[in-house]
Amino acid sequence: MRALWTTKTGDTVSTELTELPDDTLMPGDVTVDVDFSSINYKDGMAIMGRPGIIRNHPLVPGIDFVGTVADAAAGSGFAPGDRVILNGWGVGETHHGGLAERARVKSEWLVPLPEAISPQRAAAIGTAGFTAMLAVLALERSGALENDGSVLVTGAAGGVGSIAIAVLSRLGHRVTASTGRLDEADYLRSLGASDVIDRAQFSEPGKPLQEQRWIAAVDSAGGNTLANVLAQLEYGGTVAACGLAESAGLPSTVLPFILRSANLMGINSVNAPHALRVQAWDRLARNLDLELLDSLTTTVGLTDAKGVAEQILAGQVRGRTVVDVRR
Ligand SMILES: NC(=O)c1ccc[n+]([C@@H]2O[C@H](COP(=O)([O-])OP(=O)(O)OC[C@H]3O[C@@H](n4cnc5c(N)ncnc54)[C@H](OP(=O)(O)O)[C@@H]3O)[C@@H](O)[C@H]2O)c1
Repeated sequence: MRALWTTKTGDTVSTELTELPDDTLMPGDVTVDVDFSSINYKDGMAIMGRPGIIRNHPLVPGIDFVGTVADAAAGSGFAPGDRVILNGWGVGETHHGGLAERARVKSEWLVPLPEAISPQRAAAIGTAGFTAMLAVLALERSGALENDGSVLVTGAAGGVGSIAIAVLSRLGHRVTASTGRLDEADYLRSLGASDVIDRAQFSEPGKPLQEQRWIAAVDSAGGNTLANVLAQLEYGGTVAACGLAESAGLPSTVLPFILRSANLMGINSVNAPHALRVQAWDRLARNLDLELLDSLTTTVGLTDAKGVAEQILAGQVRGRTVVDVRR
């Protein structure tokens, strides 16, 4: 099978396209012919050798894939020909991942592909879009989206941000997009953002309580951005914290929590329980405009995946990038 292969020699990590024997695959009760994978921020980190993602080298990177079951053990709940999605579970981190023509995984990690979504579109949603929907579900559970007002999405032109905007606006919310790429304002408006603002206004340390602007927010940045968003939440507002594109730090105080009843909800797509995964994919099938999804998607072959990994770390990737592993 063709695969990306990340190796480590001393302190040097490198990723190359190679041919691997099928017996490279790790234990699992379902073998999947991968149709499509994608490049998420985490894949960029893994492929480019940033520490903390791949825990055991050598490894096939790729934290998600969409494919067709080739072989399934009795009792796995799957049969050859079934279309399946995988997001997370340490795939592409500790277990061979999706940037290959085949994968072998545990059946409990797989979610059936909803009928309304094609394999390529499911990969376009990928872990980023799945995470965006987990964030929307968390905001809904908090009750914050029942209030009138604006929802802020940071990291707006990235994968999580783009899909969060598309879903929230389709659900009827007024969405403000925060971006470092103001030249992408037309793109962000095409996804449904009502307002586009410069992320620079969130990137410096700010006061612990600021003017109340947002009923809710989806944050991919962390750091000063998340601290400032917390300080700008309306009473009872909620931030769903997904990422650390700015920083893993959170230089905040308890004041937004004890004086404005702010809520901070964490989002973890890797270990999300199965029932929540099925719910999120069902909601994506119903609440994401799939033609709009096409407009934010670029498709590349396995040969180009490494270049995209480099670009995503540089903040140069707009929306989502699907990898057609047969190309
Ligand atoms: N919790 C989870 O389970 C989970 C799942 C998926 C992703 N994530 C995390 O979520 C984040 C987004 O992932 P992604 O795949 O959507 O990546 P992405 O496509 O690269 O999007 C990240 C976006 O963040 C913005 N950004 C970059 N540097 C920034 C900075 N210094 N300050 C503020 N914003 C900055 C950029 O948007 P603009 O150019 O529009 O400003 C960039 O496009 C990453 O940190 C990723 O690790 C977490």
